[in-house]
Amino acid sequence: MFAALRPLLFTLDPERAHALTLIALRSGLLPAAAPDDPILRTSLAGLDLPNPIGLAAGFDKNAEVPDAMLRLGFGFVEAGTVTPLPQAGNPRPRIFRLVEERAVINRLGFNNAGLEAAALKLRHRAGRPGVVGANIGANKDTVDRAADYVAGVRACAAAASYLTVNISSPNTPGLRALQDRAALGDLVARVLEARGSVATPVFVKVAPDLMPAEIDDIARVALDLGLDGLIVSNTTLGRDGVTSTEAGGLSGAPLFALSTAILRSFRTATGGALPLIGVGGVSSGEQAYTKLRAGASAVQLYTALIYEGPGVVQRIKRELAELLRRDGFGSIAAVVGTGG
Ligand code: FNR
Repeated sequence: MFAALRPLLFTLDPERAHALTLIALRSGLLPAAAPDDPILRTSLAGLDLPNPIGLAAGFDKNAEVPDAMLRLGFGFVEAGTVTPLPQAGNPRPRIFRLVEERAVINRLGFNNAGLEAAALKLRHRAGRPGVVGANIGANKDTVDRAADYVAGVRACAAAASYLTVNISSPNTPGLRALQDRAALGDLVARVLEARGSVATPVFVKVAPDLMPAEIDDIARVALDLGLDGLIVSNTTLGRDGVTSTEAGGLSGAPLFALSTAILRSFRTATGGALPLIGVGGVSSGEQAYTKLRAGASAVQLYTALIYEGPGVVQRIKRELAELLRRDGFGSIAAVVGTGG
């Protein structure tokens, strides 16, 4: 069905196409995916997943359709980024399709309806099966960024399956500076304290534009303070492999090699002691497999969904199961970090 709709969707501004997609998903009329092949079952930081292919943050910013996305076959869904106060984001246009390159540049700037609205949605569905995480961020004009993350943790910790501290959007000026060692240590300490006695895992999502010393620093802080995992990676400010010079973060096919190389570096820096989630340019089972072998316990995607529609999730899972069997692996966990 998506193949028939795509030409129409692609005549629309990307944000309008996205809004229509959300309406279709909210209608609840989309068919449910077939049950997953048991070989794909796995766990991530103590969370049981029917398969390791997750929906990356940014698709469902206000936690409106997590259950519809689970029904489409994702093994887990990350809602957000959500900020304490509702925020309009940057002026439009602010999402650009790079069709030839199978990529997207976005400079949305955390447009979202705010924590209160998202937390309400998450609380409403909290008893249902399925892993739904909340990706939290800071408002653009906030004076104390760490306090915004603390507010996000307090609002979502009980209702979300996990929390992601997003310090890697390139579209909020200064945000990525939170990846610096001292700032990150302070932030993570405050966030983990705010989580209190709730067992909800906390992940930090990082940029792909990091130097080796920065990767070592982030890994050190994560291990020392007892973070539950790292999501590698957000969009890149780099423009390798594309001709567009639009400002914003680049995602999709051209991000695959860079984000996988950074993932591999994090695997080395953490020695396998910390769960990693691999994100960036995944659109095939082979690429998901490569991320797992590079050290990811699970994978996420967004841009491939724009180009291929929901069928991409079923295809990736089928291909991944085939690759596991071809290479004699009995489970996803057995593949993680095996190189290749
Ligand atoms: C994103 N991404 C993103 N990430 C995040 O942590 N919070 C967000 O709000 C958003 N918003 C967002 C909007 C759009 C339009 C895109 C394309 C991407 C980044 C996303 O979660 C992911 O990290 C990257 O897009 C890389 O994965 P893909 O898209 O190459 O599979």
